[in-house]
Amino acid sequence: MPAVKPDIIGVAASLITWGIKQLKGKGIQDVIEAVHLQNKEGVRPILRKEHKTAAGIDYVFALPPGVDRTDFETNRHYFESYLNSFVEIEATGRKLILKTYKANFKEIEPYAFNPMQYANMLAPFPIGISLDGKVKVADMSEVYHMLIGGVTGYGKTSQLLGMVVAFLLHGCKVSVIDKKAIDFPILEDYLEIAISEDEVLTMLKRTVNEMEKRAAMLRAAKVQKVQRLKGVQYQVLIIDEAADIEDNASWELIDKLVRKARAGGIGVILATQKPSANTSKGFTDIRSNLAGRLCYYCNGDANDSQVILGKGNSRGSELPAIAGRCIWKWRTEELLQSMFLDADRAIEILQANNVSKVVREFEQCTNEHTERFIPG
Ligand SMILES: Nc1ncnc2c1ncn2[C@@H]1O[C@H](COP(=O)(O)OP(=O)(O)OP(=O)(O)O)[C@@H](O)[C@H]1O
Ligand SMILES: [Mg+2]
Repeated sequence: MPAVKPDIIGVAASLITWGIKQLKGKGIQDVIEAVHLQNKEGVRPILRKEHKTAAGIDYVFALPPGVDRTDFETNRHYFESYLNSFVEIEATGRKLILKTYKANFKEIEPYAFNPMQYANMLAPFPIGISLDGKVKVADMSEVYHMLIGGVTGYGKTSQLLGMVVAFLLHGCKVSVIDKKAIDFPILEDYLEIAISEDEVLTMLKRTVNEMEKRAAMLRAAKVQKVQRLKGVQYQVLIIDEAADIEDNASWELIDKLVRKARAGGIGVILATQKPSANTSKGFTDIRSNLAGRLCYYCNGDANDSQVILGKGNSRGSELPAIAGRCIWKWRTEELLQSMFLDADRAIEILQANNVSKVVREFEQCTNEHTERFIPG
């Protein structure tokens, strides 16, 4: 009977689809079983759905009580090796999405950033390229303050240069403390720079004064955020090689800034090779006020990784030894490849975009040895 034939085909097709679905799902369930990812009663996460994405597959799980994202995070490398993909984990309540990415990063992602695309932000900057090939961007005025860590030679300063360029292109004011004095002095036409311990102290005092001035303006105008005030420029203070600051008076001022400057539209960014160093009481105390965290290669040092990314988070110490590879943590967490930029290229970009140079007035300092041109 000819009418039966299409039904048989239909049933067979849905059986095959069902079979493929079971097989597809099995891979990931196997890992969950193998690593005993389950609660005390032995209940495992249930795979609810899986979607193919442009980059890989999203697996959507329902979590039983007693299982949370950290159980997945601690087993990330098993998932990654078994699925032969990078893995990111997102969770809201009992729902968890494990996202796989087949693609890899390019070895060098050249710097390319157009702040005009983020005109609604006060201080946009690129953090890196994500596994789906997009530029990850944040707004410094929302992040407030930030800590960048990782051992020597993996991209902290390159990232800071990229941030400086982004901020300047957007019309923010940038001040830099660079005790190593190699990377930033070349850019001194465009920013305020402090190198010696005296200059560092002067710059910090001036930034604290500015913060207090802004706080008074906010009080007078009865508004909470500097965005509501006309003509006030967002300002960023970058401190590269932060652990090299030894003066306690300087740390006290940095502490004041990270506790109080955000409402006044002043963001602070600290970068250091030794995030866990106890070189100064100040540094240990202020870390908790640096909400944005960017972690580069930590050479297997789980302690450094945990200081940067949070208690129990050793992901930074598991990063491959690749320059620019980093983990960005702010609200969520993501593996990225920073865009490479050096100071020479930074100047080229600033010149090509006609970024105005800092106007300097001659200002007599009380200390005759630190007499310099200070930006007005
Ligand atoms: N995003 C990147 N992509 C590719 N290579 C990079 C990237 N960032 C940095 N590099 C390479 O690593 C080198 C060191 O980078 P950088 O000076 O930024 O490191 P660092 O973390 O600041 O080191 P240190 O702690 O010694 O100051 C660069 O000269 C460049 O060769
Ligand atoms: Mg550096």
